[in-house]
Amino acid sequence: MKAVVYKGPFDVAVEEVPDPTIQGPLDAIIRITSANICGSDLHPYEGRVEFESGMVFGHENMGVVEAVGAGVDRIRVGDRVSVPFNLACGTCRNCTDGFTSACLRANPSGQPGAGFGYPAMGPYWGGQAELLRVPWADFNLLELPEGTEHELDFTMLSDIFPTGYHGTELAKVAPGKTVAIFGAGPVGLMAAHSAMIRGASQVFVVDYQEDRLALAEEFGATAIDFSKVDVTEAITDLTDGFGVDSGVEAVGYQAHDHTGEEHPEMVLDALVSVVRATGAIGAVGVDNPSDPEGATEEAKQGRVAFDFGTAFTKGISIGTGQCPVKRYNRELRDLIIRGRATPGRIVSHELPLDDAVDAFDRFDKRVDGYTKVVLHPAA
Ligand SMILES: NC(=O)c1ccc[n+]([C@@H]2O[C@H](COP(=O)([O-])OP(=O)(O)OC[C@H]3O[C@@H](n4cnc5c(N)ncnc54)[C@H](O)[C@@H]3O)[C@@H](O)[C@H]2O)c1
Ligand SMILES: [Zn+2]
Ligand SMILES: [Zn+2]
Repeated sequence: MKAVVYKGPFDVAVEEVPDPTIQGPLDAIIRITSANICGSDLHPYEGRVEFESGMVFGHENMGVVEAVGAGVDRIRVGDRVSVPFNLACGTCRNCTDGFTSACLRANPSGQPGAGFGYPAMGPYWGGQAELLRVPWADFNLLELPEGTEHELDFTMLSDIFPTGYHGTELAKVAPGKTVAIFGAGPVGLMAAHSAMIRGASQVFVVDYQEDRLALAEEFGATAIDFSKVDVTEAITDLTDGFGVDSGVEAVGYQAHDHTGEEHPEMVLDALVSVVRATGAIGAVGVDNPSDPEGATEEAKQGRVAFDFGTAFTKGISIGTGQCPVKRYNRELRDLIIRGRATPGRIVSHELPLDDAVDAFDRFDKRVDGYTKVVLHPAA
């Protein structure tokens, strides 16, 4: 089959690789109809996180079941399914507690949490390919209505829609609450969409990329361009001096100023400043235990010096971590089916697999308008 293969930093190739096969009774093989490129893919792409050469990229996958192992009895050949980016066994202590993001059995390295086509998440190939093997298929796969309707909405269910929603859950967004989201990338935009769905009264989205801020406004948010205004002042003014109830960090360790210089603490500092006393922050942007190219000595060791003193004094709660996709994807799917959610609106490019090399390059350079790329291997 054809697949997007990681070769080294800034080097991916579309190549022929062996087709995946059923290796155990609980496996399924999915024929991929859509596989997205994610902001997280850029971490290994840029060489900021070590990734094994030869691995197949792609953790945002959906498609149609092509084959199942002898022990799979819920999911059937021909089912249209979404594949959560977390790969989980379904039976370990963390899985039964609902934390499929920290499965204790799926990652052979022993580290909690496994996934497809991603560094440190186990040996599992990703789905930027024609076919994908999914272990523990009955547990992991989410059924979708057959056909091709809502493809671009459903393809957001494997990662970023649940991840944005998780940010708002950790930030305790509820009807009438005010919310500030930092980062208008796909995850921040999904957090804005989620905050509106959860009944927030005001949603601010902070970034400096104009095309992305315009999308945030399409979701009903107020755009704040941090290259043009003082963010704390602007949000304080717009909330009658009170600050927001909830904050979402959707940027991660590469937070930077508008000249591109990285300051890993700047978004957390801004959140601590704009979230009111006793408010909550959901930090879903990724930080890593080490980052050899980090901006400071601390950052190289995954240490981020932010204004924790003020956060403590204000009694702000902070939630972090990978999204346990299965906790939300069924209900988010049903919001799409019933016309209440339209996450596919952020898609800027639909491309055949062969265009992946160019798409990685342009998405990485944040070329104007490259917000979210969906690859269609069958195209
Ligand atoms: N927790 C999870 O499970 C999970 C899942 C998926 C992605 N992520 C992470 O979420 C983060 C966002 O993902 P994405 O795909 O939207 O990435 P992205 O890189 O496309 O978007 C990040 C946005 O942040 C903006 N930004 C940079 N510095 C900023 C600052 N100081 N203030 C405000 N905005 C700033 C950038 O301009 C960009 O638009 C990444 O770290 C990604 O790895 C986490
Ligand atoms: Zn992703
Ligand atoms: Zn498990």
